[in-house]
Amino acid sequence: MIYPIVAYGDPVLRKVAKEIKNDGNTDLPKLINDMFETMYLANGIGLAAPQIGLDIRLFVVDGTQLEEEGEDMTTFKKAFINAKILSETGEKWAMEEGCLSIPTVREMVSRHKTLRIRYLDENWQEHEEEFTGMQARIIQHEYDHIQGVLFTDYLNPLKKRLLKGRFNSISNGTVSVDYRMKFPMVKI
Ligand code: NI
Repeated sequence: MIYPIVAYGDPVLRKVAKEIKNDGNTDLPKLINDMFETMYLANGIGLAAPQIGLDIRLFVVDGTQLEEEGEDMTTFKKAFINAKILSETGEKWAMEEGCLSIPTVREMVSRHKTLRIRYLDENWQEHEEEFTGMQARIIQHEYDHIQGVLFTDYLNPLKKRLLKGRFNSISNGTVSVDYRMKFPMVKI
């Protein structure tokens, strides 16, 4: 099932998402599969559950098509359940980011180079791993989503002011986008 992607301005993107309980009530494998499908159709490399309207601590990433110098991206396809970033270290580096919930906006964001994270995979196996470079950046961006944070929050006040009109057009659905979205200011 392909979900519509929730656009900037929807309150679900601002919630601190809830832990998922392993009580067998959620069909998590199907949901994870659907999130990958939804992400691929929108040409994304990461998608968090709040972006499909669910305030739960789940995100998926697939950077296997990216070619990063000095980084092996070929195995970087994962689901993160109840993730917790334990530490962020290393120098900050800036790179242009975008977000499926904020189409047409791309801006430079500074993030720490390395992180340590604890999470459960789709089989409820616990992992504690270190990621660096591009992989760390993708995880930091998606992790922010389950904390209710968007990459545009890091922009300076002037930049945010300049983007105000664009944010409005994203919330009211007048932005041009080639995947299905749910716009908070559009009543169905
Ligand atoms: Ni995003």
